[in-house]
Amino acid sequence: MYDVVRGMMRRLRPVVLDEFGLGRALEELVDGWNDRHPEAFCRLETTGSLDVLPDTIAIHVYRIVQEALTNASKHSGATQVEVRLARAQSAGMDTLSVAVRDDGAGFDAALRHEGLGLRGMRERVEALRGTLAIVAEMGRGVRIAIAIPLAGAPA
Ligand SMILES: Nc1ncnc2c1ncn2[C@@H]1O[C@H](COP(=O)(O)OP(=O)(O)O)[C@@H](O)[C@H]1O
Ligand SMILES: [Mg+2]
Repeated sequence: MYDVVRGMMRRLRPVVLDEFGLGRALEELVDGWNDRHPEAFCRLETTGSLDVLPDTIAIHVYRIVQEALTNASKHSGATQVEVRLARAQSAGMDTLSVAVRDDGAGFDAALRHEGLGLRGMRERVEALRGTLAIVAEMGRGVRIAIAIPLAGAPA
């Protein structure tokens, strides 16, 4: 019963996202991950305000970071993970950049087939008309870099 309820909670929109915005929601996500993974430490760094973003962007970015952290703990054996979000002007455009990197095992990008997690990440970024780069190398960790345009973004 408890597992069922917990599973449902995970699928629902996190309440903290609606109440306090993306910055606070990511703090709670990362704090929870750190509590559950004492062998690793994830650092969260944010630049610029993340609390007045359109809802669609906030939920997609939250789910993307959540999947990246799940992958880091499930597949990488990393001891250091870094999540960086920055809202800044780039070439005169208001842009949100999201970067997640880990110092774990990495993978061979030529061999590894994409699972549902990475595909979902790609689809979320496409829905936001952003760009996604995944750089992975055996033994050198994984780096995910996303840029999402904010001007004219769907609400
Ligand atoms: N941070 C990571 N470190 C090492 N390997 C990873 C990482 N993220 C993804 N992978 C590899 O890429 C595969 C696909 O990931 P994903 O699409 O999220 O599917 P899943 O997590 O369900 O296996 C994983 O099975 C794993 O082999
Ligand atoms: Mg995954």
